[in-house]
Amino acid sequence: MATAHINLAHEFFAGNASSYDDVVRLTTLGNDRLWKERIIQCLSTPARVLDLACGTGILTFAIAERHPKCALIGVDLTAAYLDIAKQRATAIGRSDVQFVHSAAEDFRQVEPCDAIVSSYLAKYADLDVLTANAASMLKPGGLLLMHEFTYPTNPLIALVWELYFPMLQLMPCRQLRQWRAAFRGLPKLVRDTTWVADLRNAMQQNGFTDIRTESLSMGTAAIVTGRRSPEF
Ligand SMILES: C[S@@+](CC[C@H](N)C(=O)[O-])C[C@H]1O[C@@H](n2cnc3c(N)ncnc32)[C@H](O)[C@@H]1O
Repeated sequence: MATAHINLAHEFFAGNASSYDDVVRLTTLGNDRLWKERIIQCLSTPARVLDLACGTGILTFAIAERHPKCALIGVDLTAAYLDIAKQRATAIGRSDVQFVHSAAEDFRQVEPCDAIVSSYLAKYADLDVLTANAASMLKPGGLLLMHEFTYPTNPLIALVWELYFPMLQLMPCRQLRQWRAAFRGLPKLVRDTTWVADLRNAMQQNGFTDIRTESLSMGTAAIVTGRRSPEF
């Protein structure tokens, strides 16, 4: 497992679980909800789904609501995020949704899944390990889907994007103060990441077919999907 990535995730997500849902909605200007809706549209009628880096379970529960019979497992590195997810499961009467405290790269699931999804994991993750594991956990034809931020290629959008993060750091909001480490580190991470190409490459190496990239919200995020080849 790549320790640098894990350390970065600890740095970004320490002490801010309780404000995460509000902050992700606010700072993505509502796009997070649209992106998650798009992820759900990519799932047909799955019987078993794994949500890697599930956090507080926003995506996990959105899938649970749309597919009430689907068995769901959320995996995350940060215990405080999982505690919120578990409380939510109890509150909405979905204690059948399982949450596992683990690095996504270390997680193995014996029962084959119809889909493995993740939102905001690809930029930190070891994509070779994740994709190889996904190939072993998915049913033939099963879907691997990763959603993550991307750096906009349009220079005007990139300029607005560059101004946005320093502005977030200056906002005098108590909740946002817990996010200073993330707002400082995120721009460089997103500028430097090559996750789309790396994931596509890892999928090709691991027998995925029908590999597609969908750019979202003026190039500020993307979804990459692929299906486990029945022959692999
Ligand atoms: C921005 S939150 C996203 C949460 C959720 N996917 C969502 O869309 O709301 C990122 C989450 O990734 C988790 N994370 C980061 N690296 C991880 C890894 N290697 N394995 C498991 N979880 C990881 C963090 O603990 C954090 O909860």
